[in-house]
Amino acid sequence: MPDAAAPPELAREAELLRVQLHHHNICYYVEDNPRISDAEYDSLLRRLQDIENRHPDLRTADSPTQRVGATPLAAFAPVRHAVPMLSLDNAFGAEELRDFDRRVRERLGLDTSPDYVCEPKFDGLAVSLRYQDGVFVRGATRGDGETGEDISANLRTLASIPLRLAGAAVPPVLEVRGEVYMPLRGFAELNARAEKSGEKTFVNPRNAAAGSLRQLDSRITATRPLRFCAYGLGQVEGREEPDTQAEMLARLRTWGFPVSPLLTVAATLDEVIAYFERLGALRAGLDYAIDGAVIKVNCLDFQRQLGFVARAPRAMIACKFPAEEATTTLLDVEFQVGRTGVLTPVARLRPVFVGGVTVANATLHNADEIARLDARIGDTLVVRRAGDVIPQVVRVVGELRPPQARAIVFPDACPVCQSPLERTPGEAAVRCTGGLVCRAQRRESIRHFASRGALDIEGLGDKIIEQLVDRDLVTTVADLYRLERAQLAGLDRMAEKSADNLLAAIARSRETTLPRFLFALGIREVGQATARALARHFGTLDALAAADVEQLLQVRDVGPVVAEHVAGFFANADNRAVVAALRAAGVDWPEQPVEVSALPLAGQTWVLTGTLEHLPRDQARERLEALGATVAGSVSARTHTVVAGAKAGSKLERARALGVRVLDEAEFMALLQYNTGN
Ligand code: IVH
Repeated sequence: MPDAAAPPELAREAELLRVQLHHHNICYYVEDNPRISDAEYDSLLRRLQDIENRHPDLRTADSPTQRVGATPLAAFAPVRHAVPMLSLDNAFGAEELRDFDRRVRERLGLDTSPDYVCEPKFDGLAVSLRYQDGVFVRGATRGDGETGEDISANLRTLASIPLRLAGAAVPPVLEVRGEVYMPLRGFAELNARAEKSGEKTFVNPRNAAAGSLRQLDSRITATRPLRFCAYGLGQVEGREEPDTQAEMLARLRTWGFPVSPLLTVAATLDEVIAYFERLGALRAGLDYAIDGAVIKVNCLDFQRQLGFVARAPRAMIACKFPAEEATTTLLDVEFQVGRTGVLTPVARLRPVFVGGVTVANATLHNADEIARLDARIGDTLVVRRAGDVIPQVVRVVGELRPPQARAIVFPDACPVCQSPLERTPGEAAVRCTGGLVCRAQRRESIRHFASRGALDIEGLGDKIIEQLVDRDLVTTVADLYRLERAQLAGLDRMAEKSADNLLAAIARSRETTLPRFLFALGIREVGQATARALARHFGTLDALAAADVEQLLQVRDVGPVVAEHVAGFFANADNRAVVAALRAAGVDWPEQPVEVSALPLAGQTWVLTGTLEHLPRDQARERLEALGATVAGSVSARTHTVVAGAKAGSKLERARALGVRVLDEAEFMALLQYNTGN
């Protein structure tokens, strides 16, 4: 039972403990200079908890005991950012930094470079922390930049986020922007624990940080080793802003926010470039992931004058490091059979952490690539990974070849169906000739048919496809439409509910468009763009199927190779039977307009660039094409309009230079609405 009224000396002690704990947090997280041991810190915290438990009236909202909430949330509430959270343009290497500096100087009318603040680009998640009268009141994710999610309860659990601000001149309303990240050591420990208890591990520290912040139960977040580092401001009211970015960061530090110790002010572009190179050298030794440097014009007045392009400030740039490389051992090579029968040698590697993930496989592409690399099993390889790209094998470290290294032998028959292999002269690829006899090709063709750009059958995942093929329930894609509930319910990992959902998704996929259908057929060399071009040109499937090579060559962007593949596909009786079976199963699409000259955007060439927030790029393209426009990949004087989404870069600049009309996303959406009524 808590006692009634707290004696004044206990109230004083509680306040003293809060001040001490706050001070030690700053020593630890901001100054990187702990003055007491973790055990001493814990004992102060326990003493405070004890007092507050006995006298709940002494508990304050900003008490360090209040970091962990007890009740999980049902959902995160949306938070509209008073000042939008923008993104950064990217540069790669010194040359592009020079371009950035030139643009900045030109716009500001300066002969010499302004001062730049240089800091690491943390590979974590941007958050916005709101303080009222120095007390933490809310924390939110970036979301789409305009609206994020209220993750206050989770952010409170980070000891590096001050709950109450210290120091002088704290603005009455203050929003601090920065990055939440997971230090590498904490990440490794978290994954080791997860592995031990049979839970899912995280691919990289960034995903682990994101997953931790998205917990509805803040008690889980509290167990995750997350850190915060401040780099900027959002809304500020009631106090003058400083003159420079560097001063702003210095103030943030005095108020109790960790800022990067690797921060510096550069007076020349050469200093900026030297910083970028130095940071690259430091990177491997840091206990957190960074993926480049962020360079910001120091003077805040200049920042305001420079303004924004699309959604990025012109005064800042993220200069990314080149793809990361690591060395590992080639343990074995397996041959995977793709949709069109191509055999791809896949390197099985000793797992190695590179570019933020653990890599255990890499493609070796084909026999020519293996020959070029001169790779043997047992060799030490240099592998590279950039962003989300598939890991590449860069080269073999010849000096480290062990005497027992074995040559990589290409199989002489398909490793899946034992059909003979063929190599078309002049092509690097080796193919299985099994066609639909080959289970691998069947699996892959179904996977492709169900993929998002094709008929988009949700719930038809790899594990299900594998079973459908292995049990001979599905031979061609047309068999999907004959599947019955009982057959699906008999598969592993398939509950009745999911069987129903899958059947519903398959049924829905009957209604499609001609370009999607053509793409779904998996005709060699026919990607989404070619499928669209074919559909537009011929208007109907029958007209396309009847076209000869000559007629196919009339289609924009269709060359002799594609024309041969398309004509060859429809000349094949098995393929025609599959198409007929799909049509008979009810797969259908609206008539495609061929006569485009009457459409509102007929004759216009449009270019889409940057990220559109409300409409995926392929849908934007479909909508434009439906209005008669041609959508091109590059900007020229003939371009009618450029649609610039977030992070638009060189294409937008080129459009501006050429005086081509530029629409932002909102204007583009309005135009679509005007022309189509939706
Ligand atoms: S300044 C206008 N500084 O990079 C945006 N961002 O690509 C101002 N980031 O969403 C951001 N380290 O999550 C800034 N030192 C740093 C950063 C940084 C990482 C992230 C941030 C932002 C993204 C933009």
